Amino acid sequence: MDNKLIYACVSVIGSMILGSAAFAQHGPDWPDWAYGQLEPLGPDSRTAPPCPDGSRPIDCAYQGNPVPDDGIKHSLPDTDRTFTRNEAYANFGPADWYPGDHPQMPDIVAHGKESAGVRACALCHYPNGQGKMENGHVAGLTEGYFLQQLEAFAAGNRRSADIRKANTNEMAMIAASLSDAERREIAAYYSSIPLRKMIRVVESDQAPQVRTTTNGLMLPVEGAPPMELGMRVIEVPENPDRTEMSRDPRDTWVTYAPVGSLAAGEALVAGGGGIACGACHGPELRGLGDFPSIVGRTASYTMRQLWDFKQGTRQSAVMAPIVAALSAEDMMYISVYLASLDPGGGGAEIEGVE
Ligand code: HEC
Ligand code: HEC
Repeated sequence: MDNKLIYACVSVIGSMILGSAAFAQHGPDWPDWAYGQLEPLGPDSRTAPPCPDGSRPIDCAYQGNPVPDDGIKHSLPDTDRTFTRNEAYANFGPADWYPGDHPQMPDIVAHGKESAGVRACALCHYPNGQGKMENGHVAGLTEGYFLQQLEAFAAGNRRSADIRKANTNEMAMIAASLSDAERREIAAYYSSIPLRKMIRVVESDQAPQVRTTTNGLMLPVEGAPPMELGMRVIEVPENPDRTEMSRDPRDTWVTYAPVGSLAAGEALVAGGGGIACGACHGPELRGLGDFPSIVGRTASYTMRQLWDFKQGTRQSAVMAPIVAALSAEDMMYISVYLASLDPGGGGAEIEGVE
C-alpha cells in the first residue's frame, strides 16, 4: 500500500471511531451554537469531508459549490475599491478592501500557496486579522503564541471536539503545510496588528431568527420575527450583507446572550470559577508574555476553545484543570463577558454593551 492509501484508510477508520464516540458524548449541555450549529448532532448531520486528494490524515472544510460570477461589483464605506462576490471570496487572493488598515501582507497571507492547496490566511482571518466567529481572531496575539498554535494544529494537538466543524480541520492541514520560515513571516505580520473592538453584547430573552452557512457563520433571516434565545448565545454580523457578500473586514458583531450573562461571567473570570483568569492572561486579560489575550473575541470562538479544552481535543496541560471545574453554562457566561471587553486596539466607536 502506498502512503496515500494508508492515510485514506486511517482517515476513514479514524472518523468512524471518532464519529460514533463523539456522537455518544453529545450530552444536552453541548454548546452547538458555538460550533455554528442550530441543531444537536444527529445521524443525518453533515460531518467533515475527507480532503479531495485523500493524501492527508486530516479531513477538510466544506467546499461550497462554485457560484457563477454575477459580475455585480459591490462597494463598502470609505473605500474606492469594488469587488464582485466571487472576487471577495477568491481562495488564493481574496478582496483587500482597506489596504491602509494593515502593513503590506506577506504573499502567503494574501495569496496562500495554491500548489499545496493552502488557501490565503486573509480569506478566513481577513487581511487585518480581525477574523470571524466561525474561524478565529488572529490579530493582537504574540508571535510566540501564534507559532505555538500553528505547531499544535500541525501536530494534531488542536482539533475540534465537534466532528461537524470542518474548517478547524482545514486549519490543521494548512498549519502542517507551512515551512518554518513561512510560519515566522506570518506570525510577525499578524502580531504587528492590534485587535480592534468589534463586539456589542445584547442581553435578551430573544434573538433574531438565524440561518447558518456551511462553515458556521450565522446570519439573520430577513423579515422573520425574533425567536426565543434560551440558554445559548446567538452571534450575527452587524451588517449581514456586507459580511456575507463582501467579507467586510471592518464589520462588527452583535452577541445576543441570556439576561445576567455579563455579571455571571465577570464573577467567574475574577476567580469565582476557582482561579482568576488574570493571573495568567494579564490584569486586563489582554495577554501576559505568551499567555494569549482572551478579550474582544467572539463568544462563539472563545466558547469553542474552552469546550475543546474540556473535551481534550485542544490539548493544554495548563488550561485542562481550569476548564475541568467549569460547566458549559459557566463557560458561556465567561465567553460573553470576555467578548464584551475592549481588546485595546481601537475601534471604540461601537458601544460595548447594550
Ligand atoms: C478555511 C479557513 C481558514 C484559513 C484559510 C486559515 N485559517 Fe486559521 N483558523 C481557521 C479556523 C476555523 C480557526 C479556529 C479553529 C477553532 O475555533 O476551532 C483558525 C485559527 C487560527 C489560529 C489560532 C488563533 C488563536 O487565537 O489561537 C491561528 C494562529 C491561525 N488560524 C493562523 C492561520 C494562518 C497563518 C493561515 C494562513 C497560512 C490561516 N490561519 C488560514 C480557519 C482558517
Ligand atoms: C495558569 C495559567 C492560566 C490561567 C489561570 C488561565 N489560563 Fe487560559 N490559557 C493559558 C495558556 C498557557 C493558554 C494557551 C494554551 C495552549 O497552549 O493552547 C491559554 C489559553 C486560553 C484560551 C484560548 C485563547 C485562544 O486564542 O484560543 C482561552 C479562551 C482561555 N485560556 C481562557 C481562560 C479563562 C476564561 C481562564 C479563567 C477561568 C483562564 N484561561 C485561566 C493559561 C492560563
